[in-house]
Amino acid sequence: MSQLIVGNWKMNGLREAGQALARGLAAAAPQLACQLVICPPFTLLASLAAELRGSAVAVGGQDCHAAPHGAFTGDTAAPMLADAGASHVIVGHSERRHYHGETNAEVRAKAEAAAKAGLIVIACVGETEAQRQSGHEMKVVAAQLAGSLPEDFNGIVAYEPLWAIGTGVTPSRDNIAAMHAHIRALLVARFGVAGTVLPLLYGGSVKASNAADLLAVPDVGGALVGGASLVLEEFLAIARAARG
Ligand code: PGA
Repeated sequence: MSQLIVGNWKMNGLREAGQALARGLAAAAPQLACQLVICPPFTLLASLAAELRGSAVAVGGQDCHAAPHGAFTGDTAAPMLADAGASHVIVGHSERRHYHGETNAEVRAKAEAAAKAGLIVIACVGETEAQRQSGHEMKVVAAQLAGSLPEDFNGIVAYEPLWAIGTGVTPSRDNIAAMHAHIRALLVARFGVAGTVLPLLYGGSVKASNAADLLAVPDVGGALVGGASLVLEEFLAIARAARG
């Protein structure tokens, strides 16, 4: 399977810059071997999905609500994302878990709602620095997976250690390989044969200078990229480092 490179723009992107970035990606995408997804802020989602229709770049949301509609001021339902042209959605990003207090059960409900709306779910897990230092990272990620993934999960898992997000620090290749092997074993134990093929992404300070190294780690099926996805040439360099 070709590797998947996902750009998570987070709360960045005004119309002009967002459109320029999307256009640049669409122009370069036919020469890339990997698959590309961008997750812009909600304000740009519909316009960029329209702009990118027919291109090799897919569009995703950064979060969704668990309910299909209703009195939830400020929230966005999964069917709305699909209606706006999204094919993917990130759930359980550590910034949602941290700043919005999202629990595993809430993440799971969001993942269920997203799948029901026809979206491909990118479910994020990852330990804090303290959890790794105390040797609990495997246990923490196992609990997040057990609690956050629905019974019939058929999406993508992104391993993002919190201490690597936005810090410029990345785990060693051995650490990533060990965690991905751990996640793979848990997915197979739970989902059987289906668990052998669910894509696993690595995320946390992926940039042009380390992408080739990180993308070559066993069972890394691609990358979830934050900061570096906001700079066209940087994001394209990461995409060029990916396998087809
Ligand atoms: P970063 O963010 O690439 O800026 O570290 C990754 C993420 O939070 O998805």
